[in-house]
Amino acid sequence: MSWPIEPGNAVCGGVALVFCAVLCAMARPQVADQHHPPHSSEEYAKVLNAPSREAWQRPDEVVRALGFKPGESVADIGAGTGYFTRRFAPYVAKAYAVDIDDKLLKTAAEGAPPNLEAILATPDDPKLPEASVDVIFFCNVLHHIENRPAYYQKLARALKPGGRIVNIDFFKKPLPVGPPVSMKLSEGEVVAEFKAAGFSLVKTHSFLPYQYFQVFSRADRSGRFPASFRVAISAPHSRHLVDLKYD
Ligand SMILES: C[S@@+](CC[C@H](N)C(=O)[O-])C[C@H]1O[C@@H](n2cnc3c(N)ncnc32)[C@H](O)[C@@H]1O
Repeated sequence: MSWPIEPGNAVCGGVALVFCAVLCAMARPQVADQHHPPHSSEEYAKVLNAPSREAWQRPDEVVRALGFKPGESVADIGAGTGYFTRRFAPYVAKAYAVDIDDKLLKTAAEGAPPNLEAILATPDDPKLPEASVDVIFFCNVLHHIENRPAYYQKLARALKPGGRIVNIDFFKKPLPVGPPVSMKLSEGEVVAEFKAAGFSLVKTHSFLPYQYFQVFSRADRSGRFPASFRVAISAPHSRHLVDLKYD
């Protein structure tokens, strides 16, 4: 099964077609009773770890942009082969690779640093301990998850007070690569969904060519907003310091 290439998209030819196939496979959706996409886990792993991915995924820049603080913990949900989790591990106290595909998870854990822990999730539950993580990270995953409102409540329970949720996913517009537009979630759709779940968009990054990069945060259990949010409210002239967007 392959996705149709956007009509009139002359960029997808020759080598670019291979590139398209890789990206399209990465974005295959899952249905409720499907444990992994149409390809085998082995094929999927090759796609996720393809060296050509680095040019557009810019993983090292993504890690830098996340700005982990010493002692923090992160959950990479839909971690796949641990493409990101393994890069996170050196910067955090604990890195959880969470996925519903046990074979991919095995790849993620093989030879990984001791602070990387694999969690076999179910499609509707990341199986994270309560208040266990400072950062929840998704890359090319959110559009795979069904019944996201219920899922977001589980994320909220797993986050420590002041924690953040990061989402990277394909722009919902015709691109030389990626899934059909109809299958993607727009930035606005994701913001609206998280807002309904009690989260605000606090930061965006725009250095990825095919994906948006969003950071969400919420009021903690005491009803207080994270420190950066309070700074922006109390010192409106300093907003450039924290790059906040909120409503
Ligand atoms: C396109 S891959 C992205 C993998 C990884 N995030 C990366 O950037 O390399 C999507 C991953 O999401 C996983 N996945 C799909 N639905 C999921 C769910 N409901 N919960 C957890 N993982 C899920 C798949 O098994 C697959 O490993």
